[in-house]
Amino acid sequence: MKKLTVTFAGSLIAFAASATMAHADKLTLYCSAQEDWCQLMARSFEDATGIDVNMTRKSSGETFAQVRAESANPRGDVWWGGTGDPHLQAAEEGLTAEYISPMREQLHDWAISQAESAGNRTIGIYSGALGYGYNTELLEANGLPEPSCWKDLLKPEFKGHVQMANPNSSGTAYTTLASMVQIFGEDEGFEFMKGLHANINQYTKSGSAPIKAAGRGENTVGIVFMHDAVAQAVAGFPIKVVAPCEGTGYEIGSMSIIDGARNMDEAKQFYDWALSTDAQNLALQVNAFQVPSNKGAETSPSAPDMSTIKLIDYDFKKYGSSDERKRLLQKWDEEVSVLPQ
Ligand code: F6P
Repeated sequence: MKKLTVTFAGSLIAFAASATMAHADKLTLYCSAQEDWCQLMARSFEDATGIDVNMTRKSSGETFAQVRAESANPRGDVWWGGTGDPHLQAAEEGLTAEYISPMREQLHDWAISQAESAGNRTIGIYSGALGYGYNTELLEANGLPEPSCWKDLLKPEFKGHVQMANPNSSGTAYTTLASMVQIFGEDEGFEFMKGLHANINQYTKSGSAPIKAAGRGENTVGIVFMHDAVAQAVAGFPIKVVAPCEGTGYEIGSMSIIDGARNMDEAKQFYDWALSTDAQNLALQVNAFQVPSNKGAETSPSAPDMSTIKLIDYDFKKYGSSDERKRLLQKWDEEVSVLPQ
């Protein structure tokens, strides 16, 4: 009997401990911005709130696929960063939750429009223009002409010298595909992607990998967001950043709370915090050169000056819609990626 009582008391203590653990403040963060920024955001939020953060970094398209695959039993709480298109698709498919943050009034209009167009299931946290960067030493060593337009990358002498990510996994590469369709029209845009395919040496999983490879001297031209190319130049690598002459697309990097999040209170706390000037200014510590969405946050002087770049009027509603994103990706898979190189 005594033994039974002891065992019962022991289980009670274990139950109490597990109940406390179940309520321990924690947050599962899916992050699609650059790894060091993701780490810094996670650790700084822990320091600010005492909430434990379990963070995983994956590219935008990959995170979208994961959130969708887990939708019957969501494991993530907040998806922070990554291009806006897959966040918009997630909103349309009801994979993310509606939330209006009290911080919203501090944001630029473009960040709020992103939220409004998605029934408040996502919001803009930064923006950045698409372009490319090249390794000046490799360009010279290979006797290549200085490129300044998208179409320069189709020249036969660039064969094997251009790298971009796969648009299925990467938001950067999907932005590239959708931008070409918007700049040149669908038929010519796909012809461009086919011509480019002939010069591509590798489709990477992550959007910024091609310019990191260029920084290391393993690749000549990387099609990336210009801020990722600037980061390589600022780190001391021989990278020149190009805003293509025909004009270019851009991203509204976004954040969404996952529908059915297990830690909804903590998710909202993170969301509000991530929109604050203090949290957005953390970007400066890790050479993240996007333009922040909080009007009071600082943009690095090294960041590409959006007002001098010929930006297209990127149709986020259309290219972030579920049907259009699926259609373009399928067409790229069937008509571009299968071509011989
Ligand atoms: O490296 C940062 C960044 O370019 C963000 O600006 C962007 O939202 C994200 O990466 C996209 O990453 P990916 O192309 O891997 O989805």
